[in-house]
Amino acid sequence: MVGRIVGTGSYVPEHVVTNDDLSKIMDTNDEWIRDRSGIAERRISMDEGTSQMAAKAAGKALEDAGMSADELDIIILATSTQDNLFPAGACEVQEMLGAVNAAAFDLSAACSGFLFGISIVNAFIQAGIYQNGLVIGAETLSKVMDWSDRSTCVLFADGAGAAVLKADETGIRHTLMGADGKKGSVLSCVGRTNGNFLNGRTPEFGYTYMDGREVFKFAVKKIPECVDEILEESGESIDEVRWFVLHQANRRIIEAAARRLKQPIEKFPMNIETYGNTSSASIPILLDEINHKGMLKRGDKIIIAGFGAGLTWGAALVEW
Ligand code: COA
Repeated sequence: MVGRIVGTGSYVPEHVVTNDDLSKIMDTNDEWIRDRSGIAERRISMDEGTSQMAAKAAGKALEDAGMSADELDIIILATSTQDNLFPAGACEVQEMLGAVNAAAFDLSAACSGFLFGISIVNAFIQAGIYQNGLVIGAETLSKVMDWSDRSTCVLFADGAGAAVLKADETGIRHTLMGADGKKGSVLSCVGRTNGNFLNGRTPEFGYTYMDGREVFKFAVKKIPECVDEILEESGESIDEVRWFVLHQANRRIIEAAARRLKQPIEKFPMNIETYGNTSSASIPILLDEINHKGMLKRGDKIIIAGFGAGLTWGAALVEW
């Protein structure tokens, strides 16, 4: 048995922030942001936290799957912007959904988090331990942006996406996960500084820092490598792949990956223009979008791939 994605759902906050809106609070403009990233607008949460958005996306995914919350065995919330250090956001989601039989925990792998999540749930299903799992990617990145750092804050945004996995004969065929901690400093958000009564320091939160060029170089190399590796492992031909669902970080990264893989750009659905980079949420939001547009047919082979802080990367070959 493997895990099959039987339901998807997504939720984004109502508040739309356009590039022109940003140009009113910092020295930037619509043309620069569109040219460099493909982003036109993004959603920013006014009041909703990560767990609330996660629960809304998860509720829709369960409805889509026709599954009740108490059938879930496991809930993984992939996030880097959890509302609290503890309890885990996944436990709050479990409570909000009424998923009383599910184990629940958060997973920190930045933008690769959703991929890591489905790899883990799939492994539990393959091992015969669990039958039904829920993986959510949800972020309120707006709260960890330095809104005076125009090179980074214009790219990131808030949102949530979710997928329900069920044990079946076909589904997720291969997954890979990777990390390179040596490159951690190129994309980071330093958490609480060590502060306690002995050293007299007050705990402080940091903001997101990114060396955009380094991340760009890494991504355009790593995405095609991941795709090649997963195809080689599965013995599948690239031309048999219907869709490449990539992490929505930057239109230019996706276009470069398509060129390197010698695949038509039409096989790479994108929604970065409307939502920006929502980190762990970007892949499940896009998956939900193409699912509900009727672009996924039973038996379609799709490759999901992403990369992010850590640095981390992951990919999966999925039979729909
Ligand atoms: N608006 C206007 N100008 C801006 C700007 C903004 N929002 N941000 C930076 N600039 C300026 C810079 O100050 C610089 O000006 P200078 O030449 O006078 O010094 C110029 O634009 C070019 O900056 P640079 O950083 O070299 O741009 P770039 O072509 O490398 O593009 C990124 C920057 C961030 C868009 C690009 O590096 C990128 O997409 N990296 C990958 C990021 C990513 O995917 N992260 C997610 C990981 S999950």
